[in-house]
Amino acid sequence: MEKIFEGKQALVVGGTGGIGGALALVLAEQGAQMNVVGGSSAERLMRTERALAKHGAGARCVAIQLADEDATAQILAFCPRTDILICAHGPFLRKPLAETSGADWRRIVTMNLILPGTLVSAYLGGMIERAWGRILLFGGTNTASVRGFTTTTPYSASKTALGVLAKSLAKNAAGCGVCCNVICPGLTNTEYMDEESMRYNRENAPGGKVLTPAEIASFALDILKNPALNGGIFPIDHGIELYRV
Ligand SMILES: NC(=O)c1ccc[n+]([C@@H]2O[C@H](COP(=O)([O-])OP(=O)(O)OC[C@H]3O[C@@H](n4cnc5c(N)ncnc54)[C@H](OP(=O)(O)O)[C@@H]3O)[C@@H](O)[C@H]2O)c1
Repeated sequence: MEKIFEGKQALVVGGTGGIGGALALVLAEQGAQMNVVGGSSAERLMRTERALAKHGAGARCVAIQLADEDATAQILAFCPRTDILICAHGPFLRKPLAETSGADWRRIVTMNLILPGTLVSAYLGGMIERAWGRILLFGGTNTASVRGFTTTTPYSASKTALGVLAKSLAKNAAGCGVCCNVICPGLTNTEYMDEESMRYNRENAPGGKVLTPAEIASFALDILKNPALNGGIFPIDHGIELYRV
């Protein structure tokens, strides 16, 4: 079987679990040489390295605390060059707007917007020089267009802004072989969630259809494979925005 990313380097930030973990596996299956950033669990990091290594193109995994802007420099030192950039990690915060502190704003905007933005800027020149690059960013549920939120403003504002980042990249690099798109996943159960969050997802997903990381990864691969898609924002969510309106 043809492996479409043979000879390509891939970096997945937040690739040891959840949606990023599922996508890292799919990229390795497609022949990419994997560079993966994980975080809190040494055991998950080792398990990921072993699982990716089975596909033979090579896998390097590193633990970097994704907590502040220092993380960006550490990621660039670990992986100075990549052909495929996936920014998967994106911490969530649910808090009423009037109770959201400056520290909350800084942490959520830094991880969900400044980190992807800085990495895109850092890798873009090399991708244009090599005339090939694929970037995939992860938005949030219902962040494909500008709207208001009651309890997730810093998170949702950062995730909505990723659409501007993807479209700006397309404006700068369309025709250069470099593509950047955003997936806005619907409610997706991952191994990080407690029973209460999974119940919330079941009760609020259209028709109770909660997504899996593997389903999102499969859509992600379709987007990464297709050079005609650039600057796109793709809600993969069973139409949740229109549900119960
Ligand atoms: N799940 C959903 O329902 C949903 C819905 C809409 C959008 N999204 C978006 O989709 C993306 C993926 O979400 P996800 O739910 O799969 O999981 P996630 O928690 O955003 O990402 C998990 C990954 O991040 C790593 N990580 C977590 N905390 C870390 C830290 N402090 N330092 C370093 N690495 C850390 C984890 O490594 P360890 O395992 O080692 O901690 C793992 O590799 C995110 O951008 C999210 O906002 C998710």
